[in-house]
Amino acid sequence: MGEPDQPSTARMIDFWLGGAHHFPVDVAAAGAFEQAYGPCAPVFRELREFLGRTVRAMAAHGVDGFLVFGAGVPTMGNVHEVATDATVLYTDVDPVTIRLGQSILAGSDRAGYGFGDATDIGTIDPAQLHRFVPGWGRRPVGVVFLGLAAFLDDATLTRTLDELYAGAAPGSLLAVDFDTEELAGHPQALAMMGPQFRMRPPAAFAPLLGRWAPTADGIVPVAQWRPEGPPAQVPDAFHGVLATRGGD
Ligand SMILES: C[S@@+](CC[C@H](N)C(=O)[O-])C[C@H]1O[C@@H](n2cnc3c(N)ncnc32)[C@H](O)[C@@H]1O
Repeated sequence: MGEPDQPSTARMIDFWLGGAHHFPVDVAAAGAFEQAYGPCAPVFRELREFLGRTVRAMAAHGVDGFLVFGAGVPTMGNVHEVATDATVLYTDVDPVTIRLGQSILAGSDRAGYGFGDATDIGTIDPAQLHRFVPGWGRRPVGVVFLGLAAFLDDATLTRTLDELYAGAAPGSLLAVDFDTEELAGHPQALAMMGPQFRMRPPAAFAPLLGRWAPTADGIVPVAQWRPEGPPAQVPDAFHGVLATRGGD
């Protein structure tokens, strides 16, 4: 695979997590962002820990198939490494990230990676969906939607989550995070996120979930979601929630 000439947020996160799947262009962009914002590794470590705790919680509920949107780079504590008995389909829209993911997962019979626009589940290859998330639409599955809500406007996000609700079987679980207004105090860093990037005050999160019902843990800073010890003291950049699809 040739080296990309544009950075990707997914591979920058891999760099901050200490992974091995990023390129010089990503390291340069990560460095520039940290100049404008400050250290990012602790913040993204907490987001990845949140992913781990929510995936373990879903597996403990009996979920053994996961559909991951805006998946980024499938390593460093990602879904198939946490739910080691489950099958997982990672999806993204970035062709470079998808190819990288496919090369990382080559040879896995439990996890695959393909194109999928979260805003249109019809863009996912049905054969891949049925292979890696065989219960989709028929029995409870886990939906992972992290690092993505910030790139969708309210109307698109609400419609997208509602379509996922309609497509998933009752009992399915959704892990989702939202970006807070943390970057408002760092205008240079905010400008680097591009025009699509959306910060939201916490009060705006709950209505966007629509019919998905938050568990009793609520919508909280990711470090405070069922922490396994004293919560890490990190900037409040992301709020997260585990939500259930009831049986309507
Ligand atoms: C900030 S990264 C998050 C990666 C990963 N989920 C994580 O938490 O580390 C956002 C990812 O969402 C992808 N993305 C952006 N818009 C998308 C869409 N409409 N559907 C699916 N993926 C999308 C980007 O290509 C990128 O890989």
